[in-house]
Amino acid sequence: MRLLKGLIRELSHELLRERHHAAVKGLDSIAFLTYRCTSCCKTCNIWQREGSGVGELSREEWLEIIPGLARYGLRSFEIFGGDAILRKDAIYDITSACRDHGIATYFPTNANLCDEETVRGLIEAGLGTVYISIDDVDELHDQVRGVQGSFSKVRQALENFSRLRGEGETPSIVVCTTLSRLNFRNFPKLLSFLEQYPVQAVYPRPLGEFSRANIEASSLDGKLPEPYFASSDGESHLMSAEELVEMRTMIREVRGGNYPFYVNWRTYYSTSDDTFLRGEYPRCHCRVATTVVTVNPNGDVVPCPFFRSYVLGNLTREGIDSIWGNEPHRRFIQAQQRGNLAICRNCNTRVYYSSLSETIRYYLLRTAEALGIFRKL
Ligand SMILES: C[S@@+](CC[C@H](N)C(=O)[O-])C[C@H]1O[C@@H](n2cnc3c(N)ncnc32)[C@H](O)[C@@H]1O
Ligand code: SF4
Ligand code: SF4
Repeated sequence: MRLLKGLIRELSHELLRERHHAAVKGLDSIAFLTYRCTSCCKTCNIWQREGSGVGELSREEWLEIIPGLARYGLRSFEIFGGDAILRKDAIYDITSACRDHGIATYFPTNANLCDEETVRGLIEAGLGTVYISIDDVDELHDQVRGVQGSFSKVRQALENFSRLRGEGETPSIVVCTTLSRLNFRNFPKLLSFLEQYPVQAVYPRPLGEFSRANIEASSLDGKLPEPYFASSDGESHLMSAEELVEMRTMIREVRGGNYPFYVNWRTYYSTSDDTFLRGEYPRCHCRVATTVVTVNPNGDVVPCPFFRSYVLGNLTREGIDSIWGNEPHRRFIQAQQRGNLAICRNCNTRVYYSSLSETIRYYLLRTAEALGIFRKL
């Protein structure tokens, strides 16, 4: 019954995305308020970008842009970074402007700066969902994040959001964990730790690692992508075949457990062994490039979060309706769909915006599992 309800709800969402995909019309957005970051994660290299912070939009510029995004019809705004709380001057007003214009807000955070005052400010501004990134427990989390004391900050953030939102249920608290060879063994421990908080769901996510060769083979109009899901310590964090077997055993154990929150393995249904061993996914037409408006810190609009130099236009000079779907955008989509962007082979973000056929496949696999005919995970 739960599966059927999920299927009906998701199908209506997916049909909407498919219509927007076919029409090349934005539906959601990812807004990098900054590339600056307070972590030094081993699995992400945003924090190593040079010149970050230069040319970031002011609070006033963001507030001028948001009504136009709402009029165009965007339904969600992901407050992205880096560490977006480094833009404390702007983040509350951006959140409340989205709320006032009927745009849902999602905020992924490393939680380093989620002190009481900041969390209160976000709750009062009407934040819809906070995604707290937690990779492990205690100092093992600090090791993945590259900064001592990170886990105690995450614990503080969970306490602050839980207590300060009071009886209300917003923001929803979701925990995101990137599973790699660095941390997958401890995932059950992390889930046990989370049981004491009013967490709505935990999203384990497969590690993404873009290969240098694929980056170099993805030049378009003389520009190269810069995917940030790459090792920052010179070591690959993908798994060996033995580790993959171990991880699958861990997943089965977790799925047999009884937690007070939903552990969402959805993205794992779009994976194959190659995803974990080589960081590769099957080729597919991307719904991010057609329906997710990505905005750089300076207001530039790009069709892909990993290709910040492929600029379609700038929101301080033009409306999104004249940028999204323009000629360079169509060229980008054509290259993506023809398989000319090799980075798409390594992309773990596309699967969060799945196609209708992927959704149907997911529910068929889940039904087969429920009937005991087949086990994907
Ligand atoms: C790029 S971060 C941006 C938001 C914020 N800085 C944070 O860490 O939550 C978004 C998510 O990507 C996850 N992430 C980091 N490295 C990754 C990788 N190599 N593959 C997949 N996800 C990764 C983070 O843990 C986080 O949940
Ligand atoms: S995953 Fe988030 S916190 Fe870690 S370096 Fe990347 S942007 Fe910063
Ligand atoms: S599939 Fe390709 S175009 Fe789409 S988000 Fe991923 S890297 Fe970008």
